Amino acid sequence: MGKLGWTLALLFAVLVGYIWYEPTFDPESLRGARVVVTGCSTGIGEQMAYHYARLGARVLITARREARLKEVVAKMKELGAQEAIYVAGDMGKPEDCERTIQTAKEKFGGLDYLVLNHVGTSYKSKKAFLWDGDMEFLHDHVMINYYSYIRLASLALPLLHKTNGSLVVVGSIAGKIGNPFTTFYAATKFGLDGFFTSLRQELVMQEINVSVTYCVIGFIDTEPAQYFQETFQMSKDIKPSPPSDCAMAIIKGGATRQREIYYPWGNAWFATKLRPLIPDLIDYGARSVFPPLKEKSPLFTVDKH
Ligand SMILES: *[C@@H]1O[C@H](CO)[C@@H](O)[C@H](O)[C@H]1NC(C)=O
Ligand SMILES: *[C@@H]1O[C@H](CO)[C@@H](O)[C@H](O)[C@H]1NC(C)=O
Repeated sequence: MGKLGWTLALLFAVLVGYIWYEPTFDPESLRGARVVVTGCSTGIGEQMAYHYARLGARVLITARREARLKEVVAKMKELGAQEAIYVAGDMGKPEDCERTIQTAKEKFGGLDYLVLNHVGTSYKSKKAFLWDGDMEFLHDHVMINYYSYIRLASLALPLLHKTNGSLVVVGSIAGKIGNPFTTFYAATKFGLDGFFTSLRQELVMQEINVSVTYCVIGFIDTEPAQYFQETFQMSKDIKPSPPSDCAMAIIKGGATRQREIYYPWGNAWFATKLRPLIPDLIDYGARSVFPPLKEKSPLFTVDKH
């Protein structure tokens, strides 16, 4: 091999090392850690609550349904949480965001992790999925899935600053590439990437040691995902990944202060990294898991003039 060959081999090795590198996660680092996780009644949030509990953390969880939160908290205590408490509330409301962070401050005396995970406004309330100009729906969705993330982060940042803590934002592959039928959801997830990536820069420049982790989450076996797969007749070849594994990947990413994590690794990493290079091909791939459309959005079928 000539000089060029060796250089290329070295570059390739560095690249592979960079891709495969995973910082070591010390489970003990979470013993006694003070954690707030939002959206814990089901799915990935519920699984995160159980993992943090097993790791001996002190955890505050949120969701809208109080009866459900009581069940999750009871199980967390069984699993070994040093402390497990809840705030029942709607993160779309500023006062509920304030109550959440205030409760953590009072009960824990500080905060090490804020994990933003909640999702509001269900798909099921929507009649048309192709973008139909429904600004009211968009507004509600943005308030809960975008605006409240920033509100909660802003309330928590002074506490996280004191502990050199971590902000973890549960984003989506829909916040990195264009998937159909997700306009409003994609808007919030792309938006969160933009906001928190800029915030990270400002924190570094102010020498404020709070880490910011954006989680690029793919297709996970949760109720909304199953609904999505059925409603859009998405190819059954796309197998959803287990929420429990996903929850652990997010927890590790936060604890090791990663900038981004990808789960499931293959899809999420490749889609994110290749989109800037071959956007048309990635778009084609994202469309091709759905059958051809039978109808158009009401924007094009209802004549308003
Ligand atoms: C937080 O990190 C700074 C460096 O960025 C360090 O000087 C300080 O001691 C750390 N504080 C805590 C509470 O760990
Ligand atoms: C920031 O805080 C983390 C966690 O306490 C610590 O491991 C790291 O060394 C700190 N970074 C700097 C630059 O001091």
